[in-house]
Parts: sequence; structure tokens; C-alpha cells
Amino acid sequence: MSLKIAIGGKGGVGKTTITSLIARCFAAEHQNKVIAIDADPVANLAAGLGISEEQPITPISELKDLIAERTGAQPGTMGGFFTLNPKVDDIPERFSLEKDGVKLLVMGTVQSGGSGCICPESTILKALMNHLVLYRDDIVIMDMEAGVEHLGRATSSSVDALIVVVNPGARSRVAAERIRKLGRDIGIKNILVLGNRVKNEEDEQLIRESLADFEIIGFLPEYEEISSADRDGVRPFDAGEDIPEPILDIVRKLEKMKRA
Ligand SMILES: Nc1ncnc2c1ncn2[C@@H]1O[C@H](COP(=O)(O)OP(=O)(O)OP(=O)(O)O)[C@@H](O)[C@H]1O
Ligand SMILES: [Mg+2]
Repeated sequence: MSLKIAIGGKGGVGKTTITSLIARCFAAEHQNKVIAIDADPVANLAAGLGISEEQPITPISELKDLIAERTGAQPGTMGGFFTLNPKVDDIPERFSLEKDGVKLLVMGTVQSGGSGCICPESTILKALMNHLVLYRDDIVIMDMEAGVEHLGRATSSSVDALIVVVNPGARSRVAAERIRKLGRDIGIKNILVLGNRVKNEEDEQLIRESLADFEIIGFLPEYEEISSADRDGVRPFDAGEDIPEPILDIVRKLEKMKRA
């Protein structure tokens, strides 16, 4: 199965938590076919996947020698001549960390950013995202921070779904609309809302009403297990506990969506 999912949402709503849980669920059935991408400048997906801090992972944007070799230009430089379609197809295997069937790739940031920046680092990241979304026959789950700027137009049309994570609250509509617009502008067709940290029926109703024109993929309650795991720096639902039904339900819906 090939499935490409981007997870967006404003700061702190639960994007990283949800990315890691979805990736782990898929990996239980599709061993070594799952790639989790940390595209957040402040990378922290490793902990949720159960990868220890003692196992450092160098973000792709910091692999200076590789970038120089593949693009023909030194990172940190601009202009000059360098290839715009560098070889990247070996990067997922060579530079990811694997845990329980999920491969983690950390993208890193590009200094002096801006979408107009054409430099060796951004060229590698774009080419890699392109490769992962367009040419890999894998389940790729992307933790995207607030924006979706790592995805170019050509790539975005192959993203199966952009999941916008929201928490109950008055500002969720503003955030969801902004991300939907960003997603649509780059050509993502299927944009779904996931209500996270929903404490009761009232919270759920609030999201349903304020986001009536969004398709909702599901709701996740507040889990004490998630906050305590976060405090202890371990991954939630690790020690033999089963991943809760509402999370599995979302994963099943994503699978079904692909098959439909
Ligand atoms: N359903 C939940 N139940 C309890 N705690 C949760 C739940 N979802 C997320 N959290 C907690 O909320 C906090 C923020 O979650 P997370 O880091 O996944 O958000 P994020 O959107 O990735 O944040 P950032 O924008 O900073 O990257 C964490 O402490 C996490 O443990
Ligand atoms: Mg995060």
C-alpha cells in the first residue's frame, strides 16, 4: 500500500503525537513500509516513536558533504550552477533511524529561508520530499509544523490527505481555515480535520459546529497516558498497552480512503 499523509495544525495541538501514533499503527501491519518525516524545524518526532535521545540523528539539511556531492555546490552558497534534480533515492535508507518498522527521517531547516530561496540545502529537501511522495511505494506520514512549505506544487497533488489537527477552542476555526488555504493553494485536494484533546460531548459539538464546512476524520480524547509519557520522555502506549480504539479508527479510515 502507498499512502501519503501530511499532518498540520497550529503550535502545540498534537501534530507530533498524532504523527507518531499513526505511523506506529501502520507499521504494526506494514512492517518497514512506513516512513515518518519530521519536517518541523524543532524536530521532536523521535521521542514519540520511541527512539532514544542517545541515538542522535543528523537532519538531512545538515549533511553538508552529501549535499555538496549531490548538488555539486557547497551548502551555504547561493547562485552559481548546481543541479536541480540531485540523486536522493538512497537517502531514506541511509539516513533514517528505524524503530519497530517505522523509519524516521528528519528534514531540518534551511537557513535564510523563504520559499524563493534556491540553495543547495533547499534543493535537496525539495527533491527528497518529491521522491518520497511521488515515487515511494510506502506509507509516508509527515509532521509538518504549521505550514506546508516543504511541499511543492508538483508534489502536493499526490498527497492523499492533509490532516489539520485542532483542539477545542474559539481559535481553532481561524487556524484550520488558514491551513486549508495553504493546502489548497499548493494543490492538496483532500483536507480533513482531526479534533484532538476533546474532553466531552460539548467539546466535540463545538468543533463540529465551528468547522461545519470541514470533513472530520475523527476525535481523540485527552489521554493521561499521553501526557505522562511525554513527561517521562517515553512513547505513549508502549508497555504492552494497546493503542486506543479512536486512534485505530482513524488509521482504518485512512486505509479505507486509499482503497476507495
Ligand atoms: N490526546 C492527547 N491527550 C493528552 N495529551 C496530549 C494529547 N495530544 C497531545 N498531547 C500533549 O500535548 C502536547 C503537545 O503535543 P505535540 O507536541 O504532539 O503537539 P505539536 O502540534 O506537535 O506541537 P508543536 O507545534 O510544538 O510541534 C504534548 O505535551 C503532548 O503530550
Ligand atoms: Mg510537533
